[in-house]
Amino acid sequence: MSAIGIERMNYIALNARDPEAAAKFASDRLGFRLEHAAPDGTHYLSAHGVDRYSLVYKPGDTLAMHHVSYLVTDEHALEQAAQRVAAAGVEVERHLEPEWESKPAVRFTTPGGHRIELTTGIHTDIPVAHLIEAPKGGGPTPVAPDHVGIGTPNFEAEEKFMAGVLGQLHSSRILAPDGLYVMAFMRSPGRYLYHDVVLVRTPIANLHHLQFSMKNVDQFYSTAEALRANDVDIAWGPLRHGPGHNIAMYFRDLEGYWFEYSVEEEIILHDPTYIPRTWSVADPKAVDEWGGPQPPAGIGPPPPADALLGADLNETFGVENAPK
Ligand SMILES: [Fe+2]
Repeated sequence: MSAIGIERMNYIALNARDPEAAAKFASDRLGFRLEHAAPDGTHYLSAHGVDRYSLVYKPGDTLAMHHVSYLVTDEHALEQAAQRVAAAGVEVERHLEPEWESKPAVRFTTPGGHRIELTTGIHTDIPVAHLIEAPKGGGPTPVAPDHVGIGTPNFEAEEKFMAGVLGQLHSSRILAPDGLYVMAFMRSPGRYLYHDVVLVRTPIANLHHLQFSMKNVDQFYSTAEALRANDVDIAWGPLRHGPGHNIAMYFRDLEGYWFEYSVEEEIILHDPTYIPRTWSVADPKAVDEWGGPQPPAGIGPPPPADALLGADLNETFGVENAPK
């Protein structure tokens, strides 16, 4: 099936118990800038890329992704995409309360229960972190979100929807010994980035992690120093992932969501000759080519399904252990 016209990730909107405090934490410590606080309590923050905003906190008691926004090529592509999603039997919401300074958008819910928005915005020929000049002025410098990791127990249905309806291509998958895939890294055709969504097999639908790219390795390490200086606990990394080959570090925001800051993600210049790779969950290089420590509970590739029996699922995959 042909591509649906997704160009890149736009922004992510997160539920927050205290959006104002979460936005202050992100602007004081994580390198974002508060752009707008709406009357309904939604806070919009920009990163160091080209978009009006990249991170949004919305009032909500349930810790979950509110929605993730992707850009499509133009309004014609948006209409085509909406029709295609609807033709797949998925309800498409067309007349939305507009987000601040947003273009017309459509939203729908994936089989795994995740809300996706498609809209139009700033077209870039290449990934944003490659396009811009290096941010100046010190502090953490997240540039743009390139992918989001979404967890679902309904892994196969989610994967089928991403590939068959949204036109995502596989870059790689991670396979557990029981023969089930536990992660799938998927990209938009012709857009170079290794992944703009990662599917994770989880016992309950959740936001596994969200990611922002850095401009270059110098900025990545200066960002790590700045985060530490801001008393942000880098709980995992720096490390080098196998899938995507990106250098990455993970920490939590005020609400407890796992953020990944990464750099040097593999790019795919020519889709027709790229062969997706399968990693074994038993291969330590899948998680970290540098052989560092295992990820903390709640982040990284999940264990094989049988290891989950008896586990405290909130402990393992939730965000309840938020820093205070
Ligand atoms: Fe990631």
